[in-house]
Amino acid sequence: MHMDYPGIIFIFTLLLLAGLDGDALPNFVLLFADDLGYGDLGSYGHPSSQTPNLDKLAANGLRFTDFYCTSPVCSPSRAALLTGRYQTRSGVYPGVFYPGSRGGLPLNETTLAEVLKPLGYATAIIGKWHLGLGANGMYLPIHQGFDHFLGVPYSHDQGPCSSLTCFPPDTKCYGTCDVGVVTVPLMSNDTIAKQPVSFPDLERAYVDYATNFIMKSAKSKEPFFLYYPSHHTHYPQFGGTEATGHTQRGRFGDSLYELDRTVGKIIQALEDSGVHNNTLVFFTADNGPELMRMSRGGNAGLLKCGKGTTYEGGMREPAIAYWPGRIQPGVTCELATILDILPTFAKLAGAKLPSVQLDGFDMSPILFDNGPGARKAVFYYPVDPSEKYGLFAVRVGKYKAHYYSRGSAQSSTTPDQDCSVLAFLKQHDPPLLFNLEIDPSENYNLSVVDDPEYKDVLEMIQGVKKEFEMGMVFGESQTSKGRDSALEPCCTPDCSPKPSCCTC
Ligand SMILES: *[C@@H]1O[C@H](CO)[C@@H](O)[C@H](O)[C@H]1NC(C)=O
Ligand SMILES: *[C@@H]1O[C@H](CO)[C@@H](O)[C@H](O)[C@H]1NC(C)=O
Ligand SMILES: *[C@@H]1O[C@H](CO)[C@@H](O)[C@H](O)[C@H]1NC(C)=O
Ligand SMILES: *[C@@H]1O[C@H](CO)[C@@H](O)[C@H](O)[C@H]1NC(C)=O
Repeated sequence: MHMDYPGIIFIFTLLLLAGLDGDALPNFVLLFADDLGYGDLGSYGHPSSQTPNLDKLAANGLRFTDFYCTSPVCSPSRAALLTGRYQTRSGVYPGVFYPGSRGGLPLNETTLAEVLKPLGYATAIIGKWHLGLGANGMYLPIHQGFDHFLGVPYSHDQGPCSSLTCFPPDTKCYGTCDVGVVTVPLMSNDTIAKQPVSFPDLERAYVDYATNFIMKSAKSKEPFFLYYPSHHTHYPQFGGTEATGHTQRGRFGDSLYELDRTVGKIIQALEDSGVHNNTLVFFTADNGPELMRMSRGGNAGLLKCGKGTTYEGGMREPAIAYWPGRIQPGVTCELATILDILPTFAKLAGAKLPSVQLDGFDMSPILFDNGPGARKAVFYYPVDPSEKYGLFAVRVGKYKAHYYSRGSAQSSTTPDQDCSVLAFLKQHDPPLLFNLEIDPSENYNLSVVDDPEYKDVLEMIQGVKKEFEMGMVFGESQTSKGRDSALEPCCTPDCSPKPSCCTC
């Protein structure tokens, strides 16, 4: 086809305009809470939590009622979040990583940061990594697609804390945390900035870092991905001056309030730098509340049990998607999980998906079209998945079938004996069946004796389970590679006696 000169210029101008303006790559802010229960936010029904900023996101964004993590404990869920793959594939199971763990999220897994990086995204993580440290910090975020890391490489209770201050001026941390290992470090990229970390000052450092990162990226017109996995709401709770004693919900409430303030400050930074209309903010959490901390733990609301279990309280989480002008305010009951975040962000950015088996679905139809999502089922793996037992439970549509159930030390202390550590592994044959739309608390199992129709439901779920398990290839377990105390991070590597000498 012949095209004249002005025509070409016209097309060029259009391309240029498209590239400069409305079609700028979207920014992503991923907020990930720790041990936060379904009932902990004001917007999810808690009467005395103070979460005004998260509630505002919920009111002006899309709030999920049926959103799930993939594991009732931390590291596996984080692996699934960042890879869009079940932890069983990447090998981040059973349980979690420790300061001296030899393993980590394998470097050949493609993280969300690595998916976005080729498109020119600036990437940063502030907060809790917990996907390995390894020899010479080989598993740190800077080796997994993140340009910047300011945070703690694992859980902030994985180091002695009884002599540390968690709330100013000098309220000591509650409990002892893990003893016999180094105190918890604050890392900047791959160097130790401070050991032990100062809990009351931590959030201010994160807010400053996040704000600078957003401002700088916006100014240089670089698209960005900010991942903020918060420590708050995990034991031991902590907070700075502005949060301490601020709420009616005690220490847990103060800690949650500080997380909420950070969310507010991040939103403020987006607004101040004029990028809020071009940024998708997504909030959710890694697993259910640690009920063993009693009134200092989180709250699963009307859901059964909490952390460590495959009941709803262990794996169903608050989730909010916020994007002013793009996502209509509302509530969705569509099924979605943390696995769906990577495919969704990739789709919105136009990024190439990693060429491996993914387990997530693009959530765009739910986010932008109020439509049904692609996900039809949710699969529940226990803390210690194995090929022998396979899935503990499967949800298809409104029905959930439990093939195995077990309580957990982390969910003990509530009156429900099913949650207790003394509720040992139990096989259910036929599976325990619940209708989660009518009975979200999993109180009333549905019996084939009462209604033969449930036989078809169980067969249908069994079919979905079988197909899923046939496609599941377990990766080599990373947490089973064991620990070596020499791998624990120490800011004075040659000091003695360890671990107590590792302070600076
Ligand atoms: C990563 O490498 C391991 C060991 O070679 C292999 O088993 C696994 O399949 C690889 N994973 C991916 C996502 O390529
Ligand atoms: C971390 O590494 C990035 C990328 O090399 C660099 O820009 C940044 O300044 C580093 N941060 C710190 C605190 O050293
Ligand atoms: C952002 O979106 C809001 C709501 O749609 C609109 O009122 C505002 O003008 C937009 N701001 C910018 C900077 O585009
Ligand atoms: C299932 O429900 C029936 C009553 O409908 C009850 O008798 C039975 O104990 C329940 N099974 C379990 C395992 O809770």
